[in-house]
Amino acid sequence: MAATGYEKQGAAYYVTTPIYYVNDAPHLGHAYTTVAGDVLTRWHRQRGEKVWYLTGTDEHGQKIMRTAETHGVTPQEWCDKLVSEAWKPLWEHLDIANDDFIRTTEKRHTDRVKEFVQDLYDKGEIYKGGYEGPYCVGCEEYKLPGDLIDGEGEYAGQKLCPIHKKPVELLKEENYFFKLSEYGPKLLELYESNPGFIQPESARNEVVNFVKQGLQDLSISRSTFDWGVKVPWDEKHVIYVWIDALLNYATAVGYNENPEKFASTFPANVHLVGKDILRFHAIIWPAMLMANGLPVPGRVAANGWLMVGGEKMSKSNLTGIKPQDLTSHFGVDAYRWYFLRAISFGQDGSFSWEDFSVRYTSELANDYGNLASRVAAMVGKYFGGSLPEATAAGEAERAVQEGLAKAVAEADRKIGDEIDFQGGILAVFDFVKQVNGYLTEQEPWKVAKDTSPEGQARLATILYTAAEALRGVAVLLNPVMPRTSQALWDSLGAEAALGALAEQRVQDAGTWGLLPAGATVTKGAVLFPRLEEKKDQ
Ligand code: ME8
Ligand code: MG
Repeated sequence: MAATGYEKQGAAYYVTTPIYYVNDAPHLGHAYTTVAGDVLTRWHRQRGEKVWYLTGTDEHGQKIMRTAETHGVTPQEWCDKLVSEAWKPLWEHLDIANDDFIRTTEKRHTDRVKEFVQDLYDKGEIYKGGYEGPYCVGCEEYKLPGDLIDGEGEYAGQKLCPIHKKPVELLKEENYFFKLSEYGPKLLELYESNPGFIQPESARNEVVNFVKQGLQDLSISRSTFDWGVKVPWDEKHVIYVWIDALLNYATAVGYNENPEKFASTFPANVHLVGKDILRFHAIIWPAMLMANGLPVPGRVAANGWLMVGGEKMSKSNLTGIKPQDLTSHFGVDAYRWYFLRAISFGQDGSFSWEDFSVRYTSELANDYGNLASRVAAMVGKYFGGSLPEATAAGEAERAVQEGLAKAVAEADRKIGDEIDFQGGILAVFDFVKQVNGYLTEQEPWKVAKDTSPEGQARLATILYTAAEALRGVAVLLNPVMPRTSQALWDSLGAEAALGALAEQRVQDAGTWGLLPAGATVTKGAVLFPRLEEKKDQ
């Protein structure tokens, strides 16, 4: 964190997702970012690092208030119901291993938000002023007139939010303002000194250009409704929902409450966000922290949009496909894998059943699943399920050993350092292809017919090599597909021989020969069963 010279004490690798609005149930887009964060944190856990993974919900503001009104319940009742019936259950279903779940209506959060904002006020960073401008309730954001698009059809003659494609509302209020405009130069310095602060490059450029044009001060309170955290020195106002929300990243890890926890966790190494909320995280959030003398995060990594029919997938144009519809068809692991595999992180991508089905069958079921089951079956058939020793290794085996070491190094760099999930997953699956090619060339089923000691030594060597390669694959894919990796781990007899899968280090995964001869190999459940015919599509 060159920009501030700040070093975390006894540091945890701290990753966050956005805290999502609970006006509705989670959809594929929310799950995309949350699965990405889960894979990233599991990767770092697999490296043996201390990790903290935070997600949660954004519960204040006009959008939530109006939704609750429409449903005839209080905002708090609405949030409680959605969190317990929709959000938390989905994350559990998708095997999201978050360490905490913060809700902005919790006292541990609201008290600290007041203190943070009071501090800024005391430091002279906040003043009272008036504002008039177009506001999008969907974004919970004042828009610049130049950002708006012209409505058509039912919205003809009106100005629309470019993201939500809904009319903006003209608001005129007396508000409190944060002196954001003063932070332009410091922010540019931050982007300069930490070139990886905003990822991908295109997003970085967009933010840099935006800041270079000059920043306006930011309205940080609202006075026309009351569903929010009260401004401590003027209770007629509530704190602007985005200021409230961004602070979750600090309040959830002990800001002003648990100094030890805070010092060892904050700031985040990576804030994962969708590109719709990049400016909040890459401009407003670091400026708020600078204003209060706190360290800025290491990186803001923006994912692109899951698209449908050329539009950003949203609550209103969802295609009707829920995450659960996909997991019940493809399984949870394949679901976690698919979006990260198919879409380059940071780029937009479209979902289709066809693409998912094709990749599932060719890459998961055929390339990976069949390899695992063939190897287990042959060790069973030719060696009674006891992993034989590799006594006759040669050139072909060395190529596999090198392939594994390369896959480990590449996947570790891409996923763990560069947050390039697709690149990392491809490195592993290229290796899977290599092992398949190795078996095709070596033809162990033919070698098996050679009952001479040399023939049997070759057979043993081939099967050991394939099984040991799969040992590495199980470790590398554990962060992405923990259930199937565990099944493979069990089938290789690795749990008994090497201990828990979670305890295997990425750093060691490429070391050849860890799986000991004599390990008990069993034919486990099929990793990726053949897909059912889809009924009503
Ligand atoms: O913005 N494609 O919450 P939100 C990819 N509460 N990602 C998508 C997506 C799509 N089509 N749709 C949503 C908010 N996402 C605020 C955040 S943080 C301090 C406050 C993901 O419910 C993506 O991560 O609108 C996006 O940024 C986030 O959900 C927005 O969720
Ligand atoms: Mg949104």
